Amino acid sequence: MIALPCVDVKDRACIDECPVDCIYEGDRMLYIQPDECVDCGACEPVCPVEAIYYEDDLPAKWADYYTANVEFFAEVGSPGGAAKVGVIPGDHPVVAALPPQAH
Ligand code: F3S
Repeated sequence: MIALPCVDVKDRACIDECPVDCIYEGDRMLYIQPDECVDCGACEPVCPVEAIYYEDDLPAKWADYYTANVEFFAEVGSPGGAAKVGVIPGDHPVVAALPPQAH
């Protein structure tokens, strides 16, 4: 799961670590496709703002981001690779409603 710290940061270091290319880019943050993710954990330590968590470790204050990561793909589905998809216009409503994030 990717949570609030990614919003308006989008460092993208995680993308380079993902062996299955399952981290997709929205306008303001990136989202992990839960059906494509193999739970390898490679992305988690490279995020400079500690935005990435295993589902069970997601801090309660960011519980909405579980929903956001799942629901973001309701329309997108499982494209089978983020590189060919590029930036997906828009964000989950939880993210879209946020004021600009100063980090
Ligand atoms: Fe976001 Fe961290 Fe990846 S800021 S783009 S989750 S490296």
